[in-house]
Amino acid sequence: MLAKTVRRKGLCGWPCRFVLLLRILISFNCSYGLSLGNREINLVIRPLSRNFAAMNGKKKYSWTIEKGQELTEMDRIILAAQERGKIVPSRKLIKTPEQIEGIRRAGVINTGILDMLTDKIHAGMSTLEIDDMVAKYTADHGAISACLGYEGFPKSCCTSVNEVVCHGIPNEWEVLEDGDIINVDCTTILDGYYADASRMYVVGGKTDPRWQKLVDVAWECLKIGEEVCSKPYVYVGDIGNAIQKHAHKNGFSVVRDLAGHGVGLEFHEEPDVDHYGHKGTGMLLVPGMVFTIEPMINMGTWEVFCDEDDGWTIVTEDELPSAQWEHTFVMTEHGVEVLTH
Ligand code: MF3
Ligand code: CO
Ligand code: CO
Repeated sequence: MLAKTVRRKGLCGWPCRFVLLLRILISFNCSYGLSLGNREINLVIRPLSRNFAAMNGKKKYSWTIEKGQELTEMDRIILAAQERGKIVPSRKLIKTPEQIEGIRRAGVINTGILDMLTDKIHAGMSTLEIDDMVAKYTADHGAISACLGYEGFPKSCCTSVNEVVCHGIPNEWEVLEDGDIINVDCTTILDGYYADASRMYVVGGKTDPRWQKLVDVAWECLKIGEEVCSKPYVYVGDIGNAIQKHAHKNGFSVVRDLAGHGVGLEFHEEPDVDHYGHKGTGMLLVPGMVFTIEPMINMGTWEVFCDEDDGWTIVTEDELPSAQWEHTFVMTEHGVEVLTH
């Protein structure tokens, strides 16, 4: 998932009032929310950049039509949304059928990795052993891990156990115990095309019922995001809004500092796919766009921090558990199709 702003652990020790003020300022600049007790309130309507462009008298148009080109049905819908001030994609986000086929093939291997792990994850093994299996399966199928070496990330997948939200680094000292919940997140490159997915595994098959509920609700959140996209021309904010409602209804919170993302030709493309927000905000999703939905759902607070020691591991602020599932989707004329299963 795309990291937006994650605070380093060091910041958390700052005097409370100052941190609160800082957060309000940050939220005005970056369109994040402010937490008041259990309620999450959106302070800002994004995006500031569009308002700026409008204020300068220069409206920013993303969707352009070449001179003399016939308007398609899709052009008309996008242009109308753009006129209403909505965020629309640029043409470079629309994949060709060949590219979608390539991403689909990468998705088959990606799914194979996550399937293969189902019977292999057990108590007593280290997260490094999971990484070794992911690396071997990837290489045996002629693919490459997108994680390995990505901005210096040292392993072939992310393994995030219990209170680790995401970006956990596999290592030989972290040994799984029965009842642990672990997310394994793999991004696979095949012939230059990227597919990105993650699943939860319950070590030993049984955990605390509240933890199991967290795992299940996180899965439902992903399915709800998919359902929202059962037709084209929905907004990213429609997905986030539906996911947020479902998580809150179940007494859980939604991580805000990391988002889903466009994917396919690169690891992280536009748009950001927030898992919270307001209907009708964020980018319009049109046929040909490929993106992930990957809600991170927390049992306690939505706030997270980044482990300063490794610069990667994202942990819940209150160290209560977190769960996440991720798929790569392509938007079509009939709604999304999953490419990672
Ligand atoms: N796979 C993650 C995502 O869903 C990103 C992991 S980046 C890594 O976007 F470097 F930590 F692997
Ligand atoms: Co992702
Ligand atoms: Co991922």
